[in-house]
Formats: sequence, structure tokens, C-alpha cells
Amino acid sequence: MPSSEIKILAIESSCDETSAAIAVNGKVLNNIIATQSVHENYGGVVPELASRAHQQNIVPVVDEALKNAAISKDDLSAIAFTRGPGLMGALLVGTSFAKSMALALNVPLIEVNHMQAHILAHFIEDPKPNFPFLCLTVSGGHTQIVLVEDFLKMEVIGETKDDAVGEAFDKTAKMLGLGYPGGPILDKMAQKGDPLKFKFPETEMPGLSYSFSGIKTAVLYFLRDELKKNEDFIKENMNDICASVQHTLIQMLMQKLRKASRQYKIKEIAIAGGVSANSGLRNTLHTMAEQERWNVYIPSFEYCTDNAGMIAMAAHFKYLQKEFVDQSVSALPRMKF
Ligand code: KG4
Ligand code: ZN
Repeated sequence: MPSSEIKILAIESSCDETSAAIAVNGKVLNNIIATQSVHENYGGVVPELASRAHQQNIVPVVDEALKNAAISKDDLSAIAFTRGPGLMGALLVGTSFAKSMALALNVPLIEVNHMQAHILAHFIEDPKPNFPFLCLTVSGGHTQIVLVEDFLKMEVIGETKDDAVGEAFDKTAKMLGLGYPGGPILDKMAQKGDPLKFKFPETEMPGLSYSFSGIKTAVLYFLRDELKKNEDFIKENMNDICASVQHTLIQMLMQKLRKASRQYKIKEIAIAGGVSANSGLRNTLHTMAEQERWNVYIPSFEYCTDNAGMIAMAAHFKYLQKEFVDQSVSALPRMKF
């Protein structure tokens, strides 16, 4: 007998995590993630290797999600997948898999925008933000301030014109020889350092736009000059360099977020994406929340980085609106809202 419950299987494969999750009636039951460690050897994600790893991981990850939720694939109401933005080859694996499965099971297919899903991750657990809210989405590929008026009604009101802030973290970490992905390692070092020890120029941008490529170059020249004077400069100042670069990046993020909050008169403030795990950003956000009387929302770490739980959550809202796609759909690496 067909169940009246809404049971969705969601697949995420936009970058270097292969993930599957099950949501039942809008409750995310699990979030299975296979992390691809192969990229660590290369200091960054290698697209071709990512696609191959997705190909290997996708069946076991989907099987585990179904088994863990004790759901038979024949009970599924819909299959959801990340259509974009992301790496073409990586997206194609999830897209093709989801299309085949929906076709075989004769159930609707739901496409999800990865950036919207990062924001909708806030509705997986309590406390949930109230509409309208602003979300600062900060990851390895994106830096955006989004005005969120409803589950599926959102608008990008500010974004980076070049690098993402996660890239600035990772590239700085690489220059310091900290490994990949360097953001979390840099964060750890920064906790023991002096954020005001070194000054780096904050790039001025109009309106609510960001730019993070300048600071990357500034750090490069700064290190080159200091290393000429003292070849042990990095070793002797590692924590202070990390703290100072992190401080500059956070200042840049927060200034525009505060500007957006005042301009739109919205005090419900959320952050999403991998960089929202940064301890300095979290602390600064809480401090600013007191000054500006914001209510601040940060998802659990599991739902900040790339995961299928957020895709399942987004897909549930789309299922309620009957926003389905047909079999002609394809991956969209530069997908917009
Ligand atoms: O959202 P995400 O998992 O994947 C993308 O869609 O990009 O974000 C990954 C990014 C990487 O740049 C990583 O270095 C950064 O998030 N990141 C951090 C921290 N944890 C992850 N950056 C700074 N501090 C952290 N604690
Ligand atoms: Zn992401």
C-alpha cells in the first residue's frame, strides 16, 4: 500500500563529498558522507579524481542511507539531487544517478540548487530563523549575502567579485605550508595568535560586494619580504600570521553583513557553508549580535559543510510545491538562484 508520508532520497555530489540522505515528512533522518581524501596529495580538489571517486562512492552511500533509515527504495516518494553550482564531472555523477533511479522507480525527480540548500540547512534542526532573514553563505567556492524571504524565495544581495573567502583561507594556509584544506588548520593556529600583530589591507568594494583576491596577493608579498629578512619568519610567527589574516578576512565579512542588516532592517542573521565552522567568525558574530541586537543562527557543523541532509531539506520544500523536473534535466555548473 503506498505510504502517505513524504520520503525523499537526496544526493549531493557537487565537489569532493559524495553524500546521500533521507528525509521523511521534512525530518532529516540521516546524512551519509563519503569524504574523498585523494585530493590531499594535490593541495586542492582535482576535478577528474573527484568524478571517479563519486562514481565509486555513490552506490554504497545511497545503500547505507536507505538501510540506516530502514526504508525500501520502493517506498520512496521522490529522488532529489544537486544540479549545481559545482564541478561539471562531479555533478554529472549525482545527476545521472538520480535520473536513473527516479526513472526506474517511476517517482518524481527534484533538482536542488546547492547554495539554496546551504541556507535551507537551517531548517533541519532548532532553532530556526524567522523570515525574512539574511544569510552569509561562506564556502570554498562562494561568498554571498542572501535575503531569504521564504523557503524558496531568496535573492543574492551581495557577493564576491573574485575569490571566495574559503579560497583565501586555503591559499593562505598553502603559502604557510599548512596542508589542504587549510582553513580548519589555520583556524586552530589562529586561536593561539595575536590578531592585531600584522596588518593586511582590507579591499574596499562598493555596496555589498566582496573581493578576496587582493588579500591573497598581499599575504604573498608580505611573506616574501619577511622571509628575505629572516628565513625562519613563518616558523617563528605562524600563530600570529594566521590570527592576523583570519582577523582581516572576518572584518571584511562582518562589515558588509552589518551594512546589509542596517540597509534591509533585518536582525535575523544566519551563516552557512564550510567557513561558518571558523571559530573566529563565530565569536565575532556573537559579539556583533550583542552590539546590533541580532538573533544569530549557525547550523551544526555536519550541516555547514557539503552534505546531502541539506539537499533533502530543500527537496522537501520543493516537493510540497510540486516543483519537479523531467528527464531532460542536466547538471548546471554555474547554476544561479
Ligand atoms: O561548504 P564547503 O564544505 O564546501 C564548498 O562548497 O566549498 O566549504 C569548504 C571550505 C574550505 O575552503 C575550507 O577550508 C573552509 O570551508 N573551512 C574553514 C573552516 N572549516 C572549513 N575555513 C576556516 N575555518 C574553518 N574552521
Ligand atoms: Zn558547499
